[in-house]
Amino acid sequence: MRDLLVLPVLVGSFLALGSAVANMGPIGSQIAHNGNGHGAPACIACHGEQLEGDAVLKTPALAGLPAEFILSRLAHYSGPQGHNAMMRQVATALGSDERQAVAAYLASLTAIGGPPH
Ligand code: HEC
Repeated sequence: MRDLLVLPVLVGSFLALGSAVANMGPIGSQIAHNGNGHGAPACIACHGEQLEGDAVLKTPALAGLPAEFILSRLAHYSGPQGHNAMMRQVATALGSDERQAVAAYLASLTAIGGPPH
């Protein structure tokens, strides 16, 4: 009986630890460089190694964009007006914590200047 009570406490502390780590920031760079592991590919795969945009794939630069703007674009792509199949896939696969983390990371990068969009 005692063991049954200990288990939820243990699970609870792991969850708390997980969200503490998520708020610390490295997860944003993780998503940008490696994807989130459940449906969202790495942003660098299409937006350039340095998130400077890709002229061939016709993707805009993400480095240095304001976090609010990135969040509003992600909301747009996953919403009813979202017209871009690639970004719909990416945006719908990102949880709201993940969107916040990746937006904060991208905003923290120095804008490099990519192809106009
Ligand atoms: C499969 C390719 C692909 C991947 C992977 C991808 N994107 Fe995109 N992204 C695009 C394309 C294409 C556009 C331009 C879409 C359009 O015309 O609206 C775009 C546009 C955007 C925009 C709009 C920028 C602007 O200036 O309007 C944001 C923000 C964005 N992507 C964020 C991300 C993030 C964050 C990731 C990683 C989690 C990511 N993208 C991964 C292809 C991709």
